[in-house]
Amino acid sequence: MAELSVEEIGGLGEQAAGEAAAAASRQELDQVRVAYLGRAGKITEVLRGLGSLPAELRPEAGKAANQARQMAETAIEKRREELAAEEAAERAADQLDVTLPGRGPEVGHRHPLMTTLEDMLDIAAGLGYTAVQGPEVEWSALNWTALNYPPDHPAMDEQDSFYITDEIMPRTHTSPAQIRAMRAMHDDSCPVRSLDPRCPPDEPLEKCTCTPAPTRVVVPGRTYRRESVTLTHHDIFYQLECLLVEEGITLAHLKGTLGAFLRAYLGPETKVRFRPDFFPFTEPSADVSVNCLFCEAKGCRFCKHSGWVEIGGSGLVHPNVLTAGGYDPDRVSGLAFGFGIERLAQHRFNIMHIRTLYDNDMRFLRQF
Ligand code: DAH
Repeated sequence: MAELSVEEIGGLGEQAAGEAAAAASRQELDQVRVAYLGRAGKITEVLRGLGSLPAELRPEAGKAANQARQMAETAIEKRREELAAEEAAERAADQLDVTLPGRGPEVGHRHPLMTTLEDMLDIAAGLGYTAVQGPEVEWSALNWTALNYPPDHPAMDEQDSFYITDEIMPRTHTSPAQIRAMRAMHDDSCPVRSLDPRCPPDEPLEKCTCTPAPTRVVVPGRTYRRESVTLTHHDIFYQLECLLVEEGITLAHLKGTLGAFLRAYLGPETKVRFRPDFFPFTEPSADVSVNCLFCEAKGCRFCKHSGWVEIGGSGLVHPNVLTAGGYDPDRVSGLAFGFGIERLAQHRFNIMHIRTLYDNDMRFLRQF
């Protein structure tokens, strides 16, 4: 020890204090204590060596060594207290605070598509329509033939549809439910009620033995087509079909009902446009558009720069379709329309791409 200068002895105290302050745990701190103040510690050795120093050096070296020890002890003690306080704080943080409000289960919510559908059904209920459903897998005879599609109509081309067998298919629209709904209005004893859906459309008239009450239904449901996905088209999509059959129904009723529906859903300022169109199951037929809400009808991608968004088809029910439903077209007339629910939801919630509705991305869905 004799080789250490007074400065070097003082330096030992500073080193020990520095290492103590940097100790991250009680174990590390203990290692520092042993290294400097333990039996073979650096400071201990200096103190032990004092006796062998020449008498004239002893007082100064002794003073420096004692100061170093004091400095090391104080630093170690200070760090010990700090570490103890940190541990206590950690323990406290781990403890259960029973006064905190509980963490409830995360509650799911409606998909924007279902919100739209339910809103539409509410509006329909307010107008006196009953919601009914038809099967998603349908007889092609009801999907096409009973709806007055001529045998060679291009919409029946396989391009537009999926088939399960020649006779059975995922429905391409909710319109076949029109036939089912009309037939369900017949008396239990009337043969129309239990007609084989595959029978040709002119058969029921001869067989009806009752006077069916008016049909007033809406049919929500999923439909399937062989389509490429675009901003506004998908191969699986929802429609809402509306059918009213009773005496004296005219185009005025159709326009009034459609306008009421759309203004109730999209707002009282909504403009509704009818243009002549063709559907085999209605005569006359009209397509239905509303002013584009994305661009305030200035023209954008969504409305194909026209300012109008087409949301469905409509018309007065074709006599052949009334006949297929077992009604006498000389006694009653009907109005019908079908909306695409996705497009209404897109319009209402500002969803530019239809695919967003089917991606199941929680970041999107949580917004609703
Ligand atoms: N079924 C038609 C379609 O999917 C839409 C439609 C048009 C429904 C006219 C109707 C109607 O009820 O009257 O394109």
